[in-house]
Amino acid sequence: MPDIEWTLCWEADLSAEHHTALAALFARYYPNDHATFTGARSWMGARPEARVIGFDDGRPVAHLGFVRRMLRLESGGSQLVGDVGLVGVDPDYQGTGLGRRLLAEAAAALGSQGLPFGFLTCAPAVVGFYATGGWQQALGQVTRMIDTELRPETYTGPALVLPVTAPFSAWPTGQTIIRDGLEV
Ligand SMILES: CC(C)(COP(=O)(O)OP(=O)(O)OC[C@H]1O[C@@H](n2cnc3c(N)ncnc32)[C@H](O)[C@@H]1OP(=O)(O)O)[C@@H](O)C(=O)NCCC(=O)NCCS
Repeated sequence: MPDIEWTLCWEADLSAEHHTALAALFARYYPNDHATFTGARSWMGARPEARVIGFDDGRPVAHLGFVRRMLRLESGGSQLVGDVGLVGVDPDYQGTGLGRRLLAEAAAALGSQGLPFGFLTCAPAVVGFYATGGWQQALGQVTRMIDTELRPETYTGPALVLPVTAPFSAWPTGQTIIRDGLEV
């Protein structure tokens, strides 16, 4: 495993050069979306507030972004989360344990911000990956959000929760969660 330096980077502290390097990384690990990640565009939907980045000799090779967000509960009330997205590892480094390390660093970063839970929506194919980092599926949960075309969307795919400072038993299960914004 290469000697990776992990940093929690806040959006206002990143330079255009950082964003350009991140966009190039995302185009590599999301090849189907490479057209989105051109120039210094280093976000897909919601722009992250903070990012956990693994650098190898100054080059970003692993990344995850999050925003601190109140999700709205169908039953009333709100739930604070670290809403996570843009997760990936440079293809040259995949399968070496870097993704697992990224999830551990992210859990520490969310904890450092006092966030009770991490939250993300993902494709069914990667639920197993997130499970290795302690993320658990909120079964029977539907997520309403805004899609990348800026239209309301009802997502019935996996919604995963990471217990950070709160236990999974405290998660508001079995109801529609409303993310009044774009996925990170
Ligand atoms: C998914 C991804 C981040 C995993 O990173 P990685 O560095 O290859 O993962 P690791 O080598 O640390 O593997 C960690 C564990 O997850 C498992 N795993 C990795 N990819 C997996 C997948 N797609 N589905 C299920 N399990 C997976 C590994 O087997 C390993 O488990 P083990 O330790 O019990 O053997 C990486 O493959 C990637 O960037 N893919 C493209 C982008 C993507 O799909 N991002 C996530 C969804 S947005």
